[in-house]
Amino acid sequence: MNINRQVLTLDEFTIQEMRAYPKATGELSSLLRDIGLAAKRVNVEVNKAGLVDILGDAGSVNVQGEDVKKMDIYANNQFIGVLKHGISCAGLGSEELEEIVVFNDVVSNNSKYVVIIDPLDGSSNIDVNVTIGTIFGVYRRVTKVGTPCTIEDFLQTGKNQVAAGYIIYGSSTMMVYATHRGVNGFTLDPSIGEFCLSHPNIQCPEKGKIYSVNYSNFFKFEIGIQKYIEACQTKTNEHNGPYTQRYVGSMVADVHRNLIKGGIFMYPGVLDKPFGKLRLLYECNPFAFIMEIAGGKATDGKKSILDIKPEKLHQRTPFFIGSKLMMEELESYLNSKYD
Ligand code: AHG
Ligand code: MN
Ligand code: MN
Repeated sequence: MNINRQVLTLDEFTIQEMRAYPKATGELSSLLRDIGLAAKRVNVEVNKAGLVDILGDAGSVNVQGEDVKKMDIYANNQFIGVLKHGISCAGLGSEELEEIVVFNDVVSNNSKYVVIIDPLDGSSNIDVNVTIGTIFGVYRRVTKVGTPCTIEDFLQTGKNQVAAGYIIYGSSTMMVYATHRGVNGFTLDPSIGEFCLSHPNIQCPEKGKIYSVNYSNFFKFEIGIQKYIEACQTKTNEHNGPYTQRYVGSMVADVHRNLIKGGIFMYPGVLDKPFGKLRLLYECNPFAFIMEIAGGKATDGKKSILDIKPEKLHQRTPFFIGSKLMMEELESYLNSKYD
């Protein structure tokens, strides 16, 4: 029998990475395994969402005032359950919960990490079978190990992330995560129920041909952004122009595609919503960390996303992310003066 031992599972890979660090305790590997497990459970339900009564609104609104889909709640509970049960997480912050969850049991209090998560992003797309995702960031706590975690552990700048990742429930299901050692992608092999290393050492191309933005907001954008988008549509931009527009409306799908193919994703602020829509802690920071490790950039239009000191768990930020040269090109439009 021909057994392909070239293929590493997520667990094999994280253990291998850990061995490269003599001081590693294995807590991060175990945390990533827990996230992978919850993701597989969510994946099963997302896959059969059309078959069971799990579709549609749950009839409440989340802390952002947005409709909550049943799958959002299911996913939220899966991640909380698995991480509370595990040995590597002291607590969790979630898009779905107003306050952080402090696990506060002996094992959890002795864990050195906290996790912040958007359990299901793009969930308005579930009903129409469009790609959705989970986004997560992992921080080493700033409070003392052995005590319950506090909000201070979560309000750290994004550059303090130890790891960040996402799961994309698309035509195949993938988990992509970054540490300072690199970005790696694992595709779920449904026949064995394991995430297998399929995209080792992901690097975002320096330039690409794709720009992603909700164009219906065009006339609400500041002039520099409008000028940049116009340049994307013509040959006036520096790199590869004109570009092509792709916008799924699920950030996980849009940023994943641009990470692999090269491109830029924008969710700017508008006049009546100067901070835009996306949440800094569990939507933008994890992607910014992944993109920077992969060689790209992420800003709020002025500074690196990873340098923003959070004040609140659910704060929003304008968000620009993508290939290095395309981001620099955008910045030149944002920094220009217009009459
Ligand atoms: P949510 O967290 O409510 O599922 O929102 C999805 C996000 C993000 O994934 C996507 O890029 C963006 O909202 C789309 O917003 P617009 O519909 O305003 O373009
Ligand atoms: Mn969500
Ligand atoms: Mn979201």
